[in-house]
Amino acid sequence: MREIKVGIIGFGTVGTGTAKILISQRELIKKRTGIDIILKRVADRDLERPREINLPKGVLVQDAWEVIRDPEIDIVIELVGGIHPAKDFIMEALKNNKHVITANKALLAEEGNDIFNLAKQKRLQVGFEASVGGGIPIIKVMREGLVANKMLAIYGIINGTTNYILTKMTDEGIDFQDALREAQNLGYAEADPTLDIEGIDSAHKITILASLAYGIPLNFKKVYCEGITKITAQDIAFAREFGYRIKLLAIAKILNGEIEIRVHPTMIPENYLIAKVDGVFNAIYVEGDNVGATLYYGRGAGSLPTGSAVVADVVDIAKGNGLIPIDFSEKLSIKPVEEIESMYYFRFTALDRPGVLSKISGVFGENNISIASVIQKGRSKAGAVPLVILTHRAKEKDVLRALQTIDKLPVVAAKSVFIRVEGQES
Ligand code: NDP
Ligand code: HSE
Repeated sequence: MREIKVGIIGFGTVGTGTAKILISQRELIKKRTGIDIILKRVADRDLERPREINLPKGVLVQDAWEVIRDPEIDIVIELVGGIHPAKDFIMEALKNNKHVITANKALLAEEGNDIFNLAKQKRLQVGFEASVGGGIPIIKVMREGLVANKMLAIYGIINGTTNYILTKMTDEGIDFQDALREAQNLGYAEADPTLDIEGIDSAHKITILASLAYGIPLNFKKVYCEGITKITAQDIAFAREFGYRIKLLAIAKILNGEIEIRVHPTMIPENYLIAKVDGVFNAIYVEGDNVGATLYYGRGAGSLPTGSAVVADVVDIAKGNGLIPIDFSEKLSIKPVEEIESMYYFRFTALDRPGVLSKISGVFGENNISIASVIQKGRSKAGAVPLVILTHRAKEKDVLRALQTIDKLPVVAAKSVFIRVEGQES
């Protein structure tokens, strides 16, 4: 029987899940593939912390270089996270002729071109199934399952932490900080949760998916990114009243040869399947020109789901079944967000006086923005009330220009809020 030896660097949430699966499923994988996958080394700087798994004696070491420089190890699995030293570990492993697997979407989105170029030169594989969608095999779908399609659009809920927070805020009225704390305790959040709540983690992941979909180099810096920290209970309630849910959506699509890649809170009609994806679950909608609409759903984070994706890469590489090579050499331009078109939700804090709506709608008219519906809540002789407007499709640059004018009107008492809306136009 063929033997493949692997080493893990980083014995944290994902490292533990991966080690557990490699050990507990060794026989099953042997039976299914005819390959014996042996976990030879696990490196972590902390040897003392109790983990849910006991490794055989001598497997756990403190120095990552013992994994990278071990001549017997065929595959190095990087699970420490962050840019450095993770990138150094991976580059050195490739230089030492080892295949690499990583769950590190931040590293791939920001510095991945160097990694893929070196792997190509060395004719080695880089497995990154766990970098997007946790346990959902979305990378395999993009590379293999949908290989016969031009990808028209991707809409993803690809951050478990923010989906968990928004779900808790929507269903239980729990406040933002409490929901974030729960997500951290469950091991979903990044070491620095700003990456989750500011949308950066989703932006890392959609950078990877967009490169797979359109063959372009990884270009994280061109991805527009807005997080969920400004979403209020009030906006969640208004969205519901209009029949929508607010989700942090990562979007990539191609229109007339130009690509849009963006992450932002988005209102989605509540009857869409993706609007019903709650908690830590992720879902990715991919539309191909031949296959049409497809949807992938599962746990987007956590020790075992993510470990499951890492081990799938180990098996693929071990089988040596000639994964379709990565080619990120297309030259297509990425649209700045000001150039996109969308429908919009606005919440104005306006004085409750006759003529206010006509003033605001006048500015909309001057900027080619057409109103679809309006709600005004409450009455206040002296104070301000929320005035909520949904629009038809409009250009983002027109929206930004209109808001500059509206926010200066004497009848508007606070900075206005807007959220992009997806779905069919009414
Ligand atoms: P953890 O922080 O739980 O684990 C990382 C481990 O690596 C820690 O034990 C850390 O030690 C150790 N480590 C850090 N630097 C070194 C080093 N130089 N040498 C040896 N060990 C080191 O992170 P996760 O397991 O959550 O995440 C790992 C990767 O997987 C990240 O890239 C993350 O983005 C990605 N990921 C995580 C998911 C999840 O659900 N958690 C899901 C999908 C992807 P110490 O604690 O001392 O820092
Ligand atoms: N912090 C990430 C999330 C982990 O919440 O989705 C999975 O990539």
